[in-house]
Amino acid sequence: MRCFNFSMLMIAVLVATSAVADGPVYRRVAPSPDGTGTVYMNRETASVMGHEGADWLERPERLAEERPDLLLAALALKPGMRVADIGAGTGYYSWRIAQRVGPEGRVLAVDVQPEMLALLDAEMKKREVSNVQGVLGTTTDPRLAPDTIDLVLMVDVYHEFDHPREMLDAMVRSLKKDGRIVFVEYREEDATVPIKPHHKMSEAQVKREAAAAGLVWKETIETLPWQHIVVFIKAR
Ligand SMILES: C[S@@+](CC[C@H](N)C(=O)[O-])C[C@H]1O[C@@H](n2cnc3c(N)ncnc32)[C@H](O)[C@@H]1O
Repeated sequence: MRCFNFSMLMIAVLVATSAVADGPVYRRVAPSPDGTGTVYMNRETASVMGHEGADWLERPERLAEERPDLLLAALALKPGMRVADIGAGTGYYSWRIAQRVGPEGRVLAVDVQPEMLALLDAEMKKREVSNVQGVLGTTTDPRLAPDTIDLVLMVDVYHEFDHPREMLDAMVRSLKKDGRIVFVEYREEDATVPIKPHHKMSEAQVKREAAAAGLVWKETIETLPWQHIVVFIKAR
């Protein structure tokens, strides 16, 4: 009887282990104040920032707090590139990227909130930017065509995906052969970064989750005051 119980236990352990290794596994816990209660790879995902908070994305202090000029320099953008700005929000980065990729290039600005995309469209009109295209994605699919994107950029958004694995798989499929995926996340390792805990990520956690989706780490750039810039490429 004892032996039977032990065998059953071993089978249960093996099944649980292979389920983790084989695919995305989300666990449910009681939600934390700024979390969703969905746990992926030991990280509770953060609640999505509602469009009601859009003004915060456009706050003038952001220029000094986050130094978008340094992030844009780190991205090595070139004329003609096709860039996917995932979780684009009001388009704070979309129009800045659009200027750098030029009229031959394109920015696909993906968001799941139609209200954000309406704000983004208005902003692009105001700025007379014509190479940014809003895309309404879902929480599992950014709706990008396969093998079409040179650079996928996620600024302050990956931590709030409620299906991070499905999103990463889809983004990887959208990349051209030499394409890059860039995570820009508030540093969890730095307690002085004034952002709620679930909206921060450590570099190690970003690397673990990207590796689970088959991405290969290229470099981490630490030029920003608050955020990591972690760059990955597609496995060959
Ligand atoms: C904190 S805002 C960041 C906006 C922008 N990247 C910026 O830096 O100004 C996060 C945005 O990601 C969007 N978002 C959340 N989950 C998403 C998903 N699965 N796919 C696309 N957008 C998503 C939200 O609707 C929100 O507009």
